[in-house]
Amino acid sequence: MRIGVYPGSFDPVTNGHLDILERASKLFDQIIVAVIHNPQKKGFFSIEERVELLQKVTRHNPRVLVDSFTGLLMDYVVKQKAQAIVRGLRAVSDFDYEMQMALMNNKLCPSVETIFIVSSPQYIYISSTKIKEVAMLGGCIDGLVPPYVEHKLLEKIQVRKGTD
Ligand code: PNS
Repeated sequence: MRIGVYPGSFDPVTNGHLDILERASKLFDQIIVAVIHNPQKKGFFSIEERVELLQKVTRHNPRVLVDSFTGLLMDYVVKQKAQAIVRGLRAVSDFDYEMQMALMNNKLCPSVETIFIVSSPQYIYISSTKIKEVAMLGGCIDGLVPPYVEHKLLEKIQVRKGTD
């Protein structure tokens, strides 16, 4: 069984992530979306919320499994008996960071490959950070995240504004 791990923050999942995930799922029998749980970093959505959003928007795809992990990615990948780590590449600006991670992960476990999938052109400018920024400032994020994620994002922004 070919298993791939697609790790990330997914705060929240975007249509860009889903594009990579759908394409990656054709290369593996199972693709595990692994949400990083970094206790030092407080995100916009909690880990449980991010996992729930991912589960909701990937439930049509039987090859996708959603999980979270803490600590070293490679420890998690080895525990899951996965053969590869999948990452999306948008622009040249992603390259340095991704290359550094891929080389470090290769040093930790040379038998696990990092596979890069180049983003579809319509998603190249999309990031969770930019989407949150635009949504918080009242801009339109239609088509950048699935409708369910948009609903949850706007709901959370409203709640935050109410408590400010
Ligand atoms: O979506 P992101 O924030 O770009 O994802 C980054 C992620 C989670 C893939 C990366 O930070 C990571 O792998 N963290 C786990 C810590 C680790 O294994 N570090 C050593 C490898 S560089």
